[in-house]
Amino acid sequence: MNIIAFNSSPRENGNTELLLKEAIKGIEVSGSDVEVFNLNLMEIKPCQNCGGCDETGICIINDDMSGIYDAIRTTDRIILASPIFFFSLSAQAKIMIDRCQSFWCEKYLLRKTIPEGKFGRKGLLITAGGMKKEIGVKCCEATARAFFRTVSVPEHQTLSFLGIDARGAINTHPTALKEAFEAGKDLVKF
Ligand SMILES: Cc1cc2nc3c(=O)[nH]c(=O)nc-3n(C[C@H](O)[C@H](O)[C@H](O)COP(=O)(O)O)c2cc1C
Repeated sequence: MNIIAFNSSPRENGNTELLLKEAIKGIEVSGSDVEVFNLNLMEIKPCQNCGGCDETGICIINDDMSGIYDAIRTTDRIILASPIFFFSLSAQAKIMIDRCQSFWCEKYLLRKTIPEGKFGRKGLLITAGGMKKEIGVKCCEATARAFFRTVSVPEHQTLSFLGIDARGAINTHPTALKEAFEAGKDLVKF
């Protein structure tokens, strides 16, 4: 099974990354590996709405998205992990998602969906926010849903934790790491 994960937090060993690592441990129990894209370390230009992908479904910008396009096309599972920033996904996540407009063109203009492999395609959204305001989760969820559906991932689970602010604060949450581990285990079921 092919599995990819987007770490969209700029904070090394921050809450998002700690949760993602636990989810990956849960996945590894099944013997599968996960290819992690550390978006903060990648050169990805924001979508220019240039129309270059309208007729082909292929983005004309040449940067680190090239490897991500291939990975999204061939994966069976996608994890999107992001901190909540200004009631939304981080900019690192959003830039990557906007560049998936080429998949939107392919799906909705060219009427081609990414074929399902034998395991189907499933997603997992992981978020952590410092405030205790649900609106942040709701906004992340809405954008993640649009992303997953655009890249032909018809179902996803969401794991979110609020009131988690300082670096590593998630370690003191009574259940979060265990929940992330279990979410990883569930993700590879089919
Ligand atoms: C630019 C910025 C904006 C933020 N906006 C929000 C917000 O709107 N809602 C929220 O709950 N937390 C917000 N936070 C707090 C982070 O979500 C919180 O610190 C989180 O644990 C960071 O995760 P990380 O350690 O993976 O980077 C913000 C933090 C930063 C740096």
